[in-house]
This record gives sequence, structure tokens and C-alpha cells, in this order.
Amino acid sequence: MIVFDRVTKQYRAGEPALRDVSFHIAPGEFVVITGPSGAGKTTLLQLVYRELVPSSGRVVVDGRELAEMSWRQVPALRRRIGIVFQDFRLLPRRTVAENVSFVLRALAWPVSRRRERTRRVLEWVGLAHRAHDWPQSLSGGEQQRVAIARALAAEPRLLLADEPTGNLDPARSLEILGLLREIHARGTTVVLATHDMTLIESAG
Ligand SMILES: Nc1ncnc2c1ncn2[C@@H]1O[C@H](COP(=O)(O)OP(=O)(O)OP(=O)(O)O)[C@@H](O)[C@H]1O
Ligand SMILES: [Mg+2]
Repeated sequence: MIVFDRVTKQYRAGEPALRDVSFHIAPGEFVVITGPSGAGKTTLLQLVYRELVPSSGRVVVDGRELAEMSWRQVPALRRRIGIVFQDFRLLPRRTVAENVSFVLRALAWPVSRRRERTRRVLEWVGLAHRAHDWPQSLSGGEQQRVAIARALAAEPRLLLADEPTGNLDPARSLEILGLLREIHARGTTVVLATHDMTLIESAG
């Protein structure tokens, strides 16, 4: 599903952020990318959803080499990928439900299916009762669960999570990790970047 073939990413002169990185991720894997701050975890994920292109080497997702993809084709790639960030990135002037259904509207899902799917994913993360609230009225852990619901709404085959527990306490972090594991158990490939090895170890 994801192939990195001798990938180097250099932002400026000096040490590259990633040097000569090669790996494969097969469909159905749960991969944890770990390393200290500045190790290049975010850079690596950004290469997967083509926020960045490598300085050298190849990144292949679902058989497509991303550097050969035109900018017009990038939205189609991103539609197949769910992304969760450390800082949630919910739209502040839209309700919880709108934050989720917005994605489906962009994909031109019909209203009734949008409503049904939004309700389902919010129920699934345990926040159906907050559907009509503003994101700011939710706790950090709840906001991250909404962000996960949004990332899953369009049923992506691949979920990328960049330090999704970085702003959360240990109990809330375990909850989020539990959700990611459930998503994985349902057949989605998950790539989690985190420096928090304690969390990974405590989850077993
Ligand atoms: N847009 C950028 N311009 C220049 N240098 C950058 C840019 N983004 C990242 N870097 C550098 O690339 C290296 C890797 O950064 P990256 O954000 O990928 O690390 P990270 O492992 O995600 O760190 P953290 O755990 O702090 O999130 C760092 O040295 C960083 O300073
Ligand atoms: Mg990072």
C-alpha cells in the first residue's frame, strides 16, 4: 500500500530531515513510527499524503508514484486517506456534526447518506449527543474523537495519525489509541507517528 524507496527529504542545506529511508507498509498493517522530536515523523507522513515531495527517492501509494501525480490528482489521493493531527484542526464555526458531514459534502454524497454516516461515526466515537455543539465546547479528548470520526467518515483504506495524543492526558491518550486499534481491527491500515513510547508500551 505504501512504499518508500530510498527517500531523502532535505528542507535546506545541512542534515536532511530524512535520509535514504526505505520500507513497505502492506494493507491491513498497524505501523507505529516513533523517534524523538525532529526525527522526521511528520515529514514522513506528509510525504505519504503528498503535502511534500521527496528530494530524491520514490514514494508509492496504492501503486502510484506520488511525484508523478499532478496537483489536480492530489485531492483524489487524499480522499482515500484519513488524517488526524495533534491539534485536532476542527472548523470552529461549524458544529461537531457539520465538521464531519462537511467532508462528505465535498465528496458530493447525497444529504440523506451524509446524515446517516455522520450519525454513525459520531455514535461510534461516543459523541452523538454532542452533534450540535461547537467544537470549542468539547474537551481535548472529545475534540480528537470528532477529528477521528471526520477522518473515518468517507471510509478511507488508510488512516494517518500524527501525534494524535500529543495534547491529551494519559487516560485520554489510551482511549484514542484504543479507537485507532478498533479502526485497524475493522480492516483499515493505520500509520501512527508518536514520540510517546510509554503510551505504546502501556497499550501492549
Ligand atoms: N517546513 C520546514 N522547513 C524547514 N525545515 C523543516 C520543515 N519541517 C520540518 N523541518 C525540519 O525537519 C526535521 C524533521 O522535522 P519533523 O517535523 O518531520 O520531525 P518530527 O519527528 O515530526 O518531530 P516532532 O516529534 O517534534 O513532531 C527537523 O529538523 C525540522 O526542523
Ligand atoms: Mg511531528
